[in-house]
Amino acid sequence: MNPKLSLLQPYPFERLRRLFAGVTPNPGLRPISLGIGEPKHATPQMLKDALAAALDTGLTGYPATAGEPALRQACAAWMQRRYGVAVDAATQVLPVNGSREALFAFAQTVLDATKPGATLAFPNPFYQIYEGAALLGGAQPFYVPSVPARNFAVDWDSVPEEVWARTQLIFVCSPGNPTGAVMPLDEWQKLFELSDRYGFVIASDECYSEIYFRDEPPLGGLEAAVKLGRPDFRNLMMFTSLSKRSNVPGLRSGFVAGDAALIKSFLLYRTYHGGAMSPAVQAASVAAWADEEHVIDNRRQYREKFAAVTPMLAEVLDVALPDAAFYLWAGVPASFEDKVAGLSADEAFARELLAQYNVTVLPGSYLARASGGANPGAGRVRMALVAEPAECLEAAERIVRFCREQSR
Ligand SMILES: Cc1ncc(COP(=O)(O)O)c(C=O)c1O
Repeated sequence: MNPKLSLLQPYPFERLRRLFAGVTPNPGLRPISLGIGEPKHATPQMLKDALAAALDTGLTGYPATAGEPALRQACAAWMQRRYGVAVDAATQVLPVNGSREALFAFAQTVLDATKPGATLAFPNPFYQIYEGAALLGGAQPFYVPSVPARNFAVDWDSVPEEVWARTQLIFVCSPGNPTGAVMPLDEWQKLFELSDRYGFVIASDECYSEIYFRDEPPLGGLEAAVKLGRPDFRNLMMFTSLSKRSNVPGLRSGFVAGDAALIKSFLLYRTYHGGAMSPAVQAASVAAWADEEHVIDNRRQYREKFAAVTPMLAEVLDVALPDAAFYLWAGVPASFEDKVAGLSADEAFARELLAQYNVTVLPGSYLARASGGANPGAGRVRMALVAEPAECLEAAERIVRFCREQSR
């Protein structure tokens, strides 16, 4: 077997199952989960219709890995409308089966494990695929902490020069999971300068870009590149997805866009890997990228939920409205430190909350790694506000009661 498989860490939800083993959730309350970051709003009817209409012809032949020109054009047209960025549909866009597989496969395409100390750097806390992509790609992960006092901005200045010198690829996540933070233009400028100096590739995970709470939509990586005079997107690739934008995590559809030379190598890798998208999914994706109305409505639903829930929770937890995405990344009360022997404050909070109020949240330490002596997720929990508004409100009410009782 591939020995690198043994380097992989258990997935956060596996660790959650272990944490909850032996706990009896309060049987008097129905379960509510804020644990999994899976969109739950209804899939738009027009998307389902487009998928159904494509079934007659969409399953009979093998699709090309590069995708149909119509899909690449729909993606390029969306880039133009959303970011004001012109990408060449033939050479700078590629469909992928959701951003997860693409982020992983891209790392396998870019990393050169024959070079000593090959490194993949990414924010801490992070989406666990980044770490697995580094480990299976033969690279060392390097965890760069996000700083709560700076709206969870990633502290790129803390990366030592000798690490930058062996870094081949970085992942950035904006809007961030779990912090919701959006990278501003000056952070992009810093990363572009570092990329020019050290030669690494930037993979920009932007799958939450359409769910935001400020007036201004989140800045995209390619948009930042154009603003900073890099219209060729050198050493830059962005990853986006319909899963959250259009409530279709089961469709498995997204695309990447950026540096044409990187796209060319990625296409070659994907041809062997088997990364082609079903033509029926391609047809549904064309319809989804072309329509903004359902996206606006989806965003409105999240905005209403966050507006109702955040102030309630802010009374008992260290939490504020994020820039974007669908998570609250909340600090738990200090009273949970050392509350349960052997458990961190976030673990103790999650376990007691389940036992007493039948609400599931994810301990923040499961989404981060100890580095430089500290785990930046410790003492925080991630709450995904994906359920119906009434359910999210009820969860918030229970959490408020839970915290008030604990502090008595
Ligand atoms: C930060 C981040 N990136 C990528 C993904 C993958 O999403 P998908 O493969 O559905 O596009 C997720 C899913 O939860 C995520 O949280």
